[in-house]
Amino acid sequence: MTGSDASGAGADGIDPDLDAIGETLPLLEGIRTARAIRRLRTDPVPRALIRKVCEAGTFAPSGGNRQPWVFVAVDDAAKRRWVADRYRPIFQRYIGPAIERAEREDFPDHLRRNMKASLHLAEHLHDAPVLLFIAGFTRRGEAQLQALYPCAQNVLLACRAVGLGASFTTLHRAFGEECDRMLGLPERIPSAVMIPIGWPVGRHGVPPRASVDTKLFWNTFDATTVEAERPIR
Ligand SMILES: Cc1cc2nc3c(=O)[nH]c(=O)nc-3n(C[C@H](O)[C@H](O)[C@H](O)COP(=O)(O)O)c2cc1C
Repeated sequence: MTGSDASGAGADGIDPDLDAIGETLPLLEGIRTARAIRRLRTDPVPRALIRKVCEAGTFAPSGGNRQPWVFVAVDDAAKRRWVADRYRPIFQRYIGPAIERAEREDFPDHLRRNMKASLHLAEHLHDAPVLLFIAGFTRRGEAQLQALYPCAQNVLLACRAVGLGASFTTLHRAFGEECDRMLGLPERIPSAVMIPIGWPVGRHGVPPRASVDTKLFWNTFDATTVEAERPIR
């Protein structure tokens, strides 16, 4: 398949070779640099590229290989606006107190940056070219998040590989039932994750993470490290 099959141009207005794009990034390098990208350009993303990152999602593991996922990719402007108009006020209420705390001088810079980026996403969600919803068949009445999250992570990694910006979000669940009806999802296939996707304004890079040496234990967990090494935040 070539760029001529795509429904839009690439990051620089050039039709990417959709078969080749993203195929050479080393896996571990991709994993280490797949940070949440929440500042997105408004340029369209080829539908074929969205198909490609969803295909990566379908290679995720799932219990009994039941593959419970379905993807609803929303590029319709009115529907994106519908989601954004509901997401924004909920996110603003949720993040408000944290933003106030973040004004303190001793607040870690990387957390402040992260919050501001999340707020930016909430305020510009309608401009994200694609809102990708990952939904899944329930089993015995329970959502199968344990399968949908690995699927979503594969999609994020594939976005990283092809150069798209993306981030994992779940806040739409606050209006989840209404959102699922809007998406045409029946009750037995609720959405779990929404991944806003677009060409990044900035660059991918290594996100701030505590060293693995504070997280890895051999054979027995050392509980005395818990006080010394709290998770950041
Ligand atoms: C289960 C889960 C739910 C999340 N929900 C949201 C969300 O609703 N909105 C949002 O902006 N980010 C959300 N995130 C993204 C995290 O905030 C993000 O992964 C974290 O800030 C690390 O970003 P980084 O990789 O750039 O360091 C969620 C992540 C996970 C794993």
